[in-house]
Amino acid sequence: MTNPKHIALSSDHAAIDLRQAIAAHIKSLGYQVTDIGPTTNESTDYPKHGQAAAKLVASGDCDLGIILCGTGQGIMMAANKVKGIRCGVCSDTFSARMIRTHNNANMLSIGARVVGEGLALDMVDVFLTTEFEGGRHATRVDMIETH
Ligand code: RB5
Repeated sequence: MTNPKHIALSSDHAAIDLRQAIAAHIKSLGYQVTDIGPTTNESTDYPKHGQAAAKLVASGDCDLGIILCGTGQGIMMAANKVKGIRCGVCSDTFSARMIRTHNNANMLSIGARVVGEGLALDMVDVFLTTEFEGGRHATRVDMIETH
């Protein structure tokens, strides 16, 4: 994929502030953002938010997705249940790069209680600007879907 333009965003209540910071950041870079909330700190269930964002990516309505919860783990698990989604949790920029180059991840999950805003924005920048390498990695990625 070259130059992803349309990014799906969602979180649970644990990550509202970081999600909104990411939305503002990537909008300022020119990305189109579909931020499906939530917008209040009221306790909510991460699976429904992860799955809703994942469906936007799986359908092609969005090119890539970024999702967040407290750890990034639960919402990642929910997103990966949607066919066609490859979502990784990252807490470092090396992994944010590698899930694109080797795994062709189409969603990034971040734990708002794990990483600070500066690192999160760096991971987002790396994730959105790194290309899948293809080749032998494409064969392996295909094996994920055809087990
Ligand atoms: C909510 O308290 C928390 O469980 C959730 O944000 C997430 O960390 C789950 O994986």
